[in-house]
Amino acid sequence: MSYNKTPSITAETINQKVRIFTYEPCGEIVRHARRLEKEIYENPGSLPFQEIIYCNLGNPQALGQRPINFFREVLSLCDNPSLIDRDEARALFSQCALKRARKIIESLPGRDSGCYTSSQGVRSLREAVADGIAARDGFPSKADNIFLTDGASSAINMMMQILIRSHEDGILCPLPEYPLYSASIVLHGGTMVPYNLTEDSGWMLEIFEVKRCLEEARASGLTIRAMVVINPGNPTGQVLSITNQEEIVEFCRKEGLVILADEVYQENVYTENKRFNSFKKVARSLGYDHNDLSIVSFHSVSMGYYGECGRRGGYMEICGFGDDVIDEIYKLASLTICPNIAGQILISLVMDPPKLGDQSFEVFTDEKEEVYSSLLKRAKALQKAFSSLEGVSCNKFEGAMYLFPRLRLPQAAIKAAQLDGVSPDVFYAHRLLGATGIAVVPGSGFHPVSGTSHIRCTILPGVEKVAAMVPRLQAFHEAFMDEFRG
Ligand SMILES: Cc1ncc(COP(=O)(O)O)c(C=O)c1O
Repeated sequence: MSYNKTPSITAETINQKVRIFTYEPCGEIVRHARRLEKEIYENPGSLPFQEIIYCNLGNPQALGQRPINFFREVLSLCDNPSLIDRDEARALFSQCALKRARKIIESLPGRDSGCYTSSQGVRSLREAVADGIAARDGFPSKADNIFLTDGASSAINMMMQILIRSHEDGILCPLPEYPLYSASIVLHGGTMVPYNLTEDSGWMLEIFEVKRCLEEARASGLTIRAMVVINPGNPTGQVLSITNQEEIVEFCRKEGLVILADEVYQENVYTENKRFNSFKKVARSLGYDHNDLSIVSFHSVSMGYYGECGRRGGYMEICGFGDDVIDEIYKLASLTICPNIAGQILISLVMDPPKLGDQSFEVFTDEKEEVYSSLLKRAKALQKAFSSLEGVSCNKFEGAMYLFPRLRLPQAAIKAAQLDGVSPDVFYAHRLLGATGIAVVPGSGFHPVSGTSHIRCTILPGVEKVAAMVPRLQAFHEAFMDEFRG
């Protein structure tokens, strides 16, 4: 019997939508960093550095950030409920962790953390999230409108699946963008409609620019379904002013657009004169309710002071959709049966952490403050270092976890990049990695305005690592500029 030995599945014959998108935070620069790491391990001393410093991804605990004790206590008790009533447990765990774990276990199906749950997430945990949102915003929130998810990414993907019907459906997204959005839109067969943030005004979102993009897209035959807003911004680190948020709410209401509010950095705001305001709160404060405007807010356990990104926990709050749509979202969620339980528990703890008067409160507050103060110290040191480099200007660090310095490289460096067939930021980032072991993401991975070059640097390695990194960065940059200045 003869059979065809040529594989029918090749990169050319798979779903081409998968091949089109790129996701630079985990892209070529990181693959190269891993190769160099292997080289260091196999041939110690063969490279001019002893370790790779990963500044490519917001992965706090991989870079030394310690988890919050209360969260871990509750998680471990939920996984080992038999510990709760043992005498030793009272010495090992705080009273409020024991109490919280008991309450959570009572509400799990089969009173165990290994069961499938409702596809929307355990009701009591959704109630904790809804209560947390209500306390944060001062406006009511309902557990029925909350979907617990495996991180914000899965929620964002789910909403793209719900909103996009064909390539004639457009989604407005900021540029520079977090590349999950373009990837998800491509995968689900829609069209991304980019709007530019303005670098010269601290990466602010100008509503006339969004309007221009909306009108152009409509004129080309697209139906615009939603507007993505990332606040605080990634990679750009800006925090929107309340006036700006009000403009966005008015605009989306008038144009009939869903606001997809990416609020995963809501606990990463560092400026004195700005604070995080959810889009739902802004809309409700303007007097708009669920009949006036649809808003989906995404949050996550990955960032903030908790940094539990490997746990894959998050929620989306869906406002202004009918029950029929909620039912369809439920059906979609049920394709993966349920979000993982550790992530569900964690997001409930993030939204309902220890309060004043709880036994864990003081330790919890100290741990949280330590994370913030270390983050701020590192951000200041790195911001100062980038700003001191010739031809580099660095954005003000208002929120999120990244710096996005702009590079103005000599013509000779731009030519050398062209000869290598890469963009100048990719050229620079590879040279930086090869000379220092510092892995940053080339800014082109976030699709900024063409003709500009940036790198995104995560502010995550410890204070000592940043102190060690700064002179290496400065020495590299000086040598780079000398080489190409001509
Ligand atoms: C703006 C933004 N949205 C969403 C995500 C995804 O978060 P999660 O880990 O919860 O999937 C990230 C992660 O870096 C992000 O930066």
